[in-house]
Amino acid sequence: MLLGLKEVFFAVYTRSRMRNLFSFMGSKESDAAVRKPAHIAVIMDGNGRWAKKRGLPRLAGHRAGSETVRRMLAYCRDAGIKYLTLYAFSTENWSRPASEVSGLMQLLEGFIKTNEAELLEKQVRLRVIGRKHDLPEKLQSEIARLEKETEAFDRQLLVALSYSGRAELTDAARKIAERIRDGSLRPEEIDEATISANLYAPDVPDPDLIIRTSGEMRISNFLLWECAYSEFYVTPVLWPDFQEQDFRAALDAYAARDRRFGGVKA
Ligand code: FPP
Repeated sequence: MLLGLKEVFFAVYTRSRMRNLFSFMGSKESDAAVRKPAHIAVIMDGNGRWAKKRGLPRLAGHRAGSETVRRMLAYCRDAGIKYLTLYAFSTENWSRPASEVSGLMQLLEGFIKTNEAELLEKQVRLRVIGRKHDLPEKLQSEIARLEKETEAFDRQLLVALSYSGRAELTDAARKIAERIRDGSLRPEEIDEATISANLYAPDVPDPDLIIRTSGEMRISNFLLWECAYSEFYVTPVLWPDFQEQDFRAALDAYAARDRRFGGVKA
């Protein structure tokens, strides 16, 4: 039977849509292999909600979140990600109930002890960014010890503790002001590189991809300077539930992004 004009149009349209769809998928797949973030940063959100859904105390959510951190390290290792930054405790988090704060501090200390051998074996450098002097002394000394032990390694795990982007910029401003006071820098010499050089981890490249779990669409004072051209990926999955398939979905989304850094396509 002869096709009517409408059917012919529809058949041609569908074929061209399918071709576009497959060529897009093809390029996405090859991009995924090629376009990989060097630095992933994560806002690990949703521990409290995860616990609440199960009728558990909030700390149980943080404990489960800590297990996700272990898994995440393996995902990043397998995917060849060089830098992973985790937002574990913000300067604002000190205002949480004392029991939650001390529970989190103990959890972090436990994490260091439990994972020390693994970090050494897998050659991962641990660095803590933030106002470390705010942390309990025992935690500070554990951090300093492991930072020293791992400092020669290339792959890096950065943990943001007592961290906020505004505090980091304030601390950078103080360091720069000191240099002006001692005469080693003139105000007119300050440029973007001066600010970057005075951040907590100046040698680490800005994050290419920032993942936020639990569906909230905000930056929450995280890496405010460094996120200027980061790609954002928000998933509704709560951090303790975050699995390899969610990590893969974030990498695929990243590979499909068109990063122009304020320029235009060549
Ligand atoms: C945000 O969820 C999460 C935190 C403030 C703590 C994150 C800490 C961990 C995952 C524990 C261990 C970390 C390391 C690096 C070992 P939330 O409590 O605000 O959750 P909610 O929004 O559902 O209440």
